[in-house]
Amino acid sequence: MAKDYSQHFKKPSIKKARKRVKDNTKTIDFSTCANIEGFGDGKTYKIQTYGCQGNEADGEKIKGILESLKFTEADTLEDADLILLNTCAIRENAENRVFGELGRLKQYKRNNPELILGVCGCMAQEENVVERILNKFQYVDLVFGTHNIYKLPQYLENVLFQKERVIEVFSEEGAIVENIPKLRDNAKKAWVNIMYGCDEFCTYCIVPYTRGKERSREPKHIISEIKDLIKEGYQEVTLLGQNVNSYGRDFTDKTYRFAQLLSDLNKLDIPRIRFTTSHPKDFDSETIDVLARGGNLMPYIHLPVQSGSTEVLKRMNRKYTRESYIALVDEIKEKIPSVSLTTDIIVGFPGETEAQFQETLSLVETCQFEGAFTFVFSKRSGTPAANYEDKTPLKEKKDRLHRLNNIINDGYLRGTKRFEGKTVKVLVDGHSKNDKNILAGYTEHNKLVNFKGDSSQIGEIVNVKITEAKTWFMLGEQQ
Ligand code: SAH
Ligand code: SF4
Ligand code: F3S
Repeated sequence: MAKDYSQHFKKPSIKKARKRVKDNTKTIDFSTCANIEGFGDGKTYKIQTYGCQGNEADGEKIKGILESLKFTEADTLEDADLILLNTCAIRENAENRVFGELGRLKQYKRNNPELILGVCGCMAQEENVVERILNKFQYVDLVFGTHNIYKLPQYLENVLFQKERVIEVFSEEGAIVENIPKLRDNAKKAWVNIMYGCDEFCTYCIVPYTRGKERSREPKHIISEIKDLIKEGYQEVTLLGQNVNSYGRDFTDKTYRFAQLLSDLNKLDIPRIRFTTSHPKDFDSETIDVLARGGNLMPYIHLPVQSGSTEVLKRMNRKYTRESYIALVDEIKEKIPSVSLTTDIIVGFPGETEAQFQETLSLVETCQFEGAFTFVFSKRSGTPAANYEDKTPLKEKKDRLHRLNNIINDGYLRGTKRFEGKTVKVLVDGHSKNDKNILAGYTEHNKLVNFKGDSSQIGEIVNVKITEAKTWFMLGEQQ
């Protein structure tokens, strides 16, 4: 395919991405700005999504746009006329996987020169990644970022008909784009963005640069999306934001915040509302009080702590202390006694001493988490921590991770054991791969349960008595 750089060539800039302009966020209506024509008719696509739920939600939007252009999903990568890698930049190994996959896809391109290969998502927002793609992966036809998904129809038109290579990434603050069509992956559980971007700038994290400034969706748009989901028979909604507790911080009306949103959603006729991710520094008592009402607000909170050392938290720019985190957990447990708490922890942050790591272990014991995602610090180019002095050998960091995981695993088991003999509500996800009579689903506290049942119950909420607790799941009998 002839490469033409004349149009649509805009590379990302970390410098620009660092800036935050606090003016009013622009809202774009996809239905009025996109010229949707069925030029994908007869063509197939495949999209591979990496990373967090926010990226999965973006993947559903990309699929929705492609389907409205009349593309259809291919069964395998080999069959696809268009392959998109929707990437994640959070850690180095996430990026390496994508570069590995790009290398592998080169042969597909050789076999089928008409194949269109695209890269989008968080990696596309990184200057060094786009440079590497331009230099080493010249067979990539299309690169677009997290702020301009809504322009995909135009980019595809340029790639398909003008035979252009399109590289267009915006590093300025993104707008909010409403009414992008979605092809959701699940018929009963849905992601709903309540906000985009992140303004926290934790010193290790790339997300504020790849996702732009924090901007909240208007409550009326969120509520109307959930009302539509209810009509379609959805049972569960997960509200998405990098720091859901700061929802509404960018509104002129400062009285409507996350607690008020939850309070409004609590009145809707959907069985389950979840949310992720919470930031300890913005988790207020009002929110805890609303959650304590229960109903459709699930008794499960993912509350990333990152470290148990106030000194390390300070260098991470997390803006809370070990003590204030523990006080928050105490308040949550006091007001929502059955709550299940999970967390994220980074070990081996630059300069973390063994004593500071021990503080993380002791915080884990104090807070009695029932699960955690644990990571070794990964250097992200362009972030402040990438320049911090880091003398701890990787071997030592991996040893810390191993010691931490042992304690975390005890927490998983404690978290399932407490339900033995109890009857819990399970939203049935599907059946076991090996046995159609074994169903699997999640409890209100977000625990996986396997039990005997009929496939016709998939998508329903059923009562299950827990007979045996394992570390990663529970066994039960339907009541
Ligand atoms: N917004 C969420 C989480 C976003 S990223 C929050 O603030 O909690 C998910 C997790 O990845 C983070 O909680 C953190 O534990 C981890 N993470 C982020 N950047 C990382 C890095 N550079 N190295 C290792 N882990 C990282
Ligand atoms: Fe990253 Fe911190 Fe924002 Fe979470 S809150 S996305 S860890 S900068
Ligand atoms: Fe990864 Fe971007 Fe999510 S870096 S974790 S896909 S916000």
